[in-house]
Amino acid sequence: KVPMVIDTDTAQDDCIALLVGLLDPRADLRAITMVAGNVGFDQQIHNAFLTLNVAGRLGSVPIHLGCRRPLVRPWESAENVHGDGVGGMTMDLTGLAPDPEHAVDALIRLAAESPGELTIVCIGPLTNIATATVKDPTFVDNVKALYVMGGSNNARGNITAAAEFNFYVDPEAAKAVFAAGFDITVIPWAPLTLDCALFGQTQLDEIAALNTPLSHFFTRVCAATLDFDRSVGINGTTHPDSLTAAVLLHPELITRTAAYHVDVETAGELTRGYAAMSWGVHNLQPNATVIDAVDPAGFYGYIRSLLANKSGAF
Ligand code: BDR
Ligand code: CA
Repeated sequence: KVPMVIDTDTAQDDCIALLVGLLDPRADLRAITMVAGNVGFDQQIHNAFLTLNVAGRLGSVPIHLGCRRPLVRPWESAENVHGDGVGGMTMDLTGLAPDPEHAVDALIRLAAESPGELTIVCIGPLTNIATATVKDPTFVDNVKALYVMGGSNNARGNITAAAEFNFYVDPEAAKAVFAAGFDITVIPWAPLTLDCALFGQTQLDEIAALNTPLSHFFTRVCAATLDFDRSVGINGTTHPDSLTAAVLLHPELITRTAAYHVDVETAGELTRGYAAMSWGVHNLQPNATVIDAVDPAGFYGYIRSLLANKSGAF
């Protein structure tokens, strides 16, 4: 089993990534940590509990609340893309509470409890991770690896022309994390997600036809994003976050990687949050492995079989 934490701004594909961590037998999901990102913080908490519920895992994995805004900038949301992040589903949270320990402290503690074993799946802005490195200098060495969903390889952004959302929202945190000395695997938004983790109408119909609680959940959760994606010419739903969790547990899905020096722009007028991925010719030392390609059919088949699972309380 893979000891892991998912650090998330829970909306749409973050929910599917949580299902991966909750339902894949290879995963040992020790905590969910929350960071400001996609939608309002309280809505993200609600969405995480809703996802635990549909997976039949309420109470079995703690949710720790983390940083409520980026390091130095005001929070900006992706509500125009994701709506409330769960397609209007609601759940009464009476009697349910997040763990009282702050997410940054939980990350530090969990890493220290099993040095060199814990992988953090980072599928939101990197504010909690950067803060943990500042609070505990041993954190970097205690963590086995970070799987970071963020940036684009060769600059096709999804929030600006240059930047992907997670790095755009907290570029200072992202820059600090790449400079900190972690073992990092990057799952970029483009071209990887568009080429290898895009589910078109045929696949969405197949998932709906599974007719399980989890497939109904998937369809609802992805509805708002599907409308947005279509409005900007993307023909399906994009799944960068669940891909990030999936490739950690199933590296056999990965078909091409490369070593890059990754840095993040914090000052540019048009390029805030741009991920500069330099290869050998620039004479910089690699600090990350970037996934350039995965097996699209393998990834889709994996998610589909996860959703075919009959468990789930939805
Ligand atoms: C990332 O930003 C968010 O909209 C998604 O949750 C994903 O983590 C993609 O750029
Ligand atoms: Ca996310």
